[in-house]
Amino acid sequence: MVLGKIGPVGPRQTDRLRGVSRTERARLAELRSNVEALFRSNRRKGHADWCERDYDYVCPSPDTYPFQWFWDSCFHAIVLTRFDTVRAVTELRTLLANQLPDGFVSHMTLWEHDLRDAARASLQINWRTPWLSDAMQPPLLAEALAAVVQRGGGSRVLGELLPAVRAYYDWCQRVRDIDGSGLIVVFEPHETGMDQSPVFDEYVAIPDLSPRGFEAAWRAIAEAQATVGRDPARMVELDRFVVVDVLVNAVYAENQRVLADLLAQAGDDAGAGEMRARAKRTAAALIGRCWSDDDADFHGLAGRAGHRLPSGSVAGLLPLVVMDCPEPIMARMVQRLEDETEFGARFPIPSVARSHPAFSPRPLGNLLWRGPTWLNLNWLVARGLRRRGRTDLARRIEDASLSLVERSGFREYYNPLTGAGYGARDFAWSALVLDMLAARLDGEGPASP
Ligand code: GLC
Repeated sequence: MVLGKIGPVGPRQTDRLRGVSRTERARLAELRSNVEALFRSNRRKGHADWCERDYDYVCPSPDTYPFQWFWDSCFHAIVLTRFDTVRAVTELRTLLANQLPDGFVSHMTLWEHDLRDAARASLQINWRTPWLSDAMQPPLLAEALAAVVQRGGGSRVLGELLPAVRAYYDWCQRVRDIDGSGLIVVFEPHETGMDQSPVFDEYVAIPDLSPRGFEAAWRAIAEAQATVGRDPARMVELDRFVVVDVLVNAVYAENQRVLADLLAQAGDDAGAGEMRARAKRTAAALIGRCWSDDDADFHGLAGRAGHRLPSGSVAGLLPLVVMDCPEPIMARMVQRLEDETEFGARFPIPSVARSHPAFSPRPLGNLLWRGPTWLNLNWLVARGLRRRGRTDLARRIEDASLSLVERSGFREYYNPLTGAGYGARDFAWSALVLDMLAARLDGEGPASP
């Protein structure tokens, strides 16, 4: 779906009350109605016999991704707060419906029976149950809940969902913070949300850079980890894939901070204090252990020995979403975002630095995260920049994101040089541009809390 072109904004069209032009309001209205249509057609609603539960969620893309994915659903809930708070709450309820007693929430829930076997056969990962993957994804749940609570959900929704959300972060800390440093580990590339990112190429020993090469390497990891029963301590000992990922930990740090605020809002001052301390610990460890002054990048840490992974992915910039990220580090990351040999581009932000040998602005078969621009990361980065007062750069990223959707529709990812759209069609998290524009016009500053 390609959205209509939007005309230039004239000073006489300014809305006197808010200083927002009527053209921008019309742009918002048009975008909202396109997103509503997208979220209607990507809606999956029904009853699953296997767990005797009703489900109602937005799938990432009907053709390619018909199931429920963890961080996609968090993004979808945030978008839904812009036009349907009831469905935003339902999206999170559905995501949490199969939370396990230990607090874990799967990165994929295969609600629908008929597609299940094909999906399982096509993914080289382990499963907790036939319907639930044994993998996490970047822990964005607290921010999704905060957006829903703030935009209509109120204390009723906070009271209902907070215990489950808190239990999820307790699981992250108890099960994935292996050395008590405040940083959590992931056990397979899918858990980072950036499956074929080139920073893992060498570490996972990709035999050849083709979908088949990745599948073989991933299958080897999954099979090795299955032999130790997917027990976290034994997977660390096995040392097949143990990574402190920068994006995952930046999201973790910031979400613990947001969760602390939610706990305070619910009157749990002790819980809030503890969560705030955890957030600070994660942020300090991320900066202390992953930042490198030499190349102005954050590096993931791999293996029991924690050796530094190569740099060059946009993930290395994600610590700028963390409120505690020191100003001099912010300044250097902003420079890299603006530098056209790195992350500066006509349609930012390339998922890999332009100077990186693996950078490709176009898809390589169906390998993901090797150069094209993804709008969920633009949303995270732009919001981080706004919070830190870098409004100009945030605005440039938001404008480029909007024009990508207006030119090429809701695609999975885009060419950072030409704006061409690629990958899945009708891809739901690209609708985050609605949140960007709505936040800006409502004078909210940062999009969502
Ligand atoms: C791809 C992406 C992952 C996303 C999923 C569903 O696997 O790498 O981040 O959650 O698709 O959209």
